[in-house]
Amino acid sequence: MVIIRPARESDIPAFSEIYNHVILNTTAVYQYEAQTLEMRRAWYESKMKDGYPVFVAEEDGKVVGFSSYGPFRAWAAYKYTVENSVYVADGQRGKGIGRMLMQPVIDSARSRGLHAIVSGIDASNDASVRLHEQFGFKEVAHFKEVGFKFGRWLDLEVSGVGAGWAGATGGWLGPCGVVGPNARFYLRLRILHSLRP
Ligand SMILES: CC(C)(COP(=O)(O)OP(=O)(O)OC[C@H]1O[C@@H](n2cnc3c(N)ncnc32)[C@H](O)[C@@H]1OP(=O)(O)O)[C@@H](O)C(=O)NCCC(=O)NCCS
Repeated sequence: MVIIRPARESDIPAFSEIYNHVILNTTAVYQYEAQTLEMRRAWYESKMKDGYPVFVAEEDGKVVGFSSYGPFRAWAAYKYTVENSVYVADGQRGKGIGRMLMQPVIDSARSRGLHAIVSGIDASNDASVRLHEQFGFKEVAHFKEVGFKFGRWLDLEVSGVGAGWAGATGGWLGPCGVVGPNARFYLRLRILHSLRP
């Protein structure tokens, strides 16, 4: 049976393994190189220090996924908006674990009085797009060819949920927030594609 619980320090190696498999084998994360264990530890410690939750899916004592959220942008006026993340281990996907990991993210954000959650998803990642849609995330931007991995250009889709939290399907509110794959965020971003033939 899969249970969802708050993360603890001893989960860090499992987070690292799950995340690195995603980096090396999918376009879900716009990174090329696997992270070191120290980088994942720093990620976990910064979540704890800044008071952001990390949720773990565990099956028979083994970590099979995790989810979290963190700041959308560093500046003070963004404090009611966060960006979420969710990862399920290879071989464990498609069994409802992603859905189980999304619910506490939504519940936690709502109980903290947050206003909106933003998600930046590779446009070819059908599973993540649909998962987020199930929780009421609406597409707010689609950036063509802003990533390059495995020899091809990648589109980034940005979606969000929020506004009064009228159930998990509350509509999107606020200016169009745009999430870059390396956590660089821009508002009302404009794009120039004429640099290449
Ligand atoms: C995206 C991810 C978190 C989804 O988690 P999951 O446990 O596989 O998804 P679930 O089994 O909970 O499915 C939830 C919904 O997602 C959608 N979904 C899941 N797998 C899918 C697939 N292979 N194709 C299309 N839609 C899919 C479905 O709508 C599904 O709902 P349904 O079962 O009612 O049809 C998981 O596949 C994953 O970790 N992928 C690699 C990392 C990643 O992409 N993370 C997100 C970065 S934005």
